[in-house]
Amino acid sequence: MARNVLVLGGGGREHALTWALARSPSVAQVASAPGNPGTASLGPTYPVDATDPAAVAELAVRLGVDLVVVGPEAPLVAGVVDALQARGVAAFGPVAAAARIEGSKAFAKEVMEAAAAPTGGAVATGDRDQAYAALERFGPPYVVKADGLAAGKGVRICTEVAEAREAVDDALVRGVFGTAGSRLVIEEFLHGPERSVFAVCDGTEVALLEPAQDYKRALDGDAGLNTGGMGAYTPVPGFSLAEVAHLEDLVFRPVLEELADRGAPYRGLLYAGLVETTTGPKLLEFNARFGDPETQAILPRIDGDLGELLWQAATGSVADAALAWRQQAAVTVVLASGGYPGSYPTGVPIDGVDAATALPGVEVFHAGTRREEGRLVTAGGRVLAVTALDDDVDVARARAYEATDHIRFRGAHRRSDIAAGV
Ligand code: GLY
Repeated sequence: MARNVLVLGGGGREHALTWALARSPSVAQVASAPGNPGTASLGPTYPVDATDPAAVAELAVRLGVDLVVVGPEAPLVAGVVDALQARGVAAFGPVAAAARIEGSKAFAKEVMEAAAAPTGGAVATGDRDQAYAALERFGPPYVVKADGLAAGKGVRICTEVAEAREAVDDALVRGVFGTAGSRLVIEEFLHGPERSVFAVCDGTEVALLEPAQDYKRALDGDAGLNTGGMGAYTPVPGFSLAEVAHLEDLVFRPVLEELADRGAPYRGLLYAGLVETTTGPKLLEFNARFGDPETQAILPRIDGDLGELLWQAATGSVADAALAWRQQAAVTVVLASGGYPGSYPTGVPIDGVDAATALPGVEVFHAGTRREEGRLVTAGGRVLAVTALDDDVDVARARAYEATDHIRFRGAHRRSDIAAGV
């Protein structure tokens, strides 16, 4: 019997999840809350605050959905999965105690070390003098991270010690991140390219997805400020699914075992941010959800039933739940509002989405959009994620950029080097 699914969240990742679930043979209908104009074209949307556990559980029970798929981290850390389970609703995503792997960077480091997973050195502290001493110990470039969730702004990488001390004082003395920054993690800087590896977890077993390459900086050549991600591509040469299989035993299974031992078994998507150092891969961070915009590149490559895999992870075992993959390349280019990742206007009219979508192999995922009197307008920093799929990565790349050329809104900006030279 096909299932009814509810996706929580309203960004580009959630549009891609809704799109892939709608194509899954095991799924009858996909609703979203709060959703966006993209998810609204695939199923009903409900204006519910995804971070309100009681409201989400009430909605899921009222709709009689079989499975809730949680997109962003904030609802997970707020305990939405705990509330759903308490009402007998299956959910794809970790309970709050396990989502701490993203909600607390100090906890994540503790788990990595206890699981003997490879990572860099780190000191977690709420004391300014200890933080200063850790900066001296690790040397430049200095990495200062707020322990808690800080809307993507909690990580500072500084070349000068004076700047790093300012970052410490901003958090510990001036309280710019509130309680999220009342503890810091001072880390050793890891040199090498960053990779994103996603594991669908059922508590003990993992099913890895095809890795993707993310582009975090705002400008070409990895210049400018850190963003949520300005583009992605998959497959990554030298870092394919077959080539990362060893990470199951090196990273994922030991971490799942450690979390289970701590009474926080992990069901959901575990995202490992890794750095390929000269001495092998090292963990930079964990996230408790799919990456954005990597998901918009990875999911169109699935040639199988994502809905069944997520159901198995939430309610059973992923041990035999391998997905098939299209042997094609996917390139995703993000169109962002002028000013992003700083302040930016919203309500700016958007044109050309239909013309972009009409190109072969192109999907346009809505990230920060809304409708005003029927008109599509901007509603966020990252506005649209444009994905193109083709047998040849150069064609996919050219097609993704051709599609973004069709889309116009005042102040729109994109990087022009996504998947260049792959
Ligand atoms: N693209 C980075 C992230 O989702 O955290």
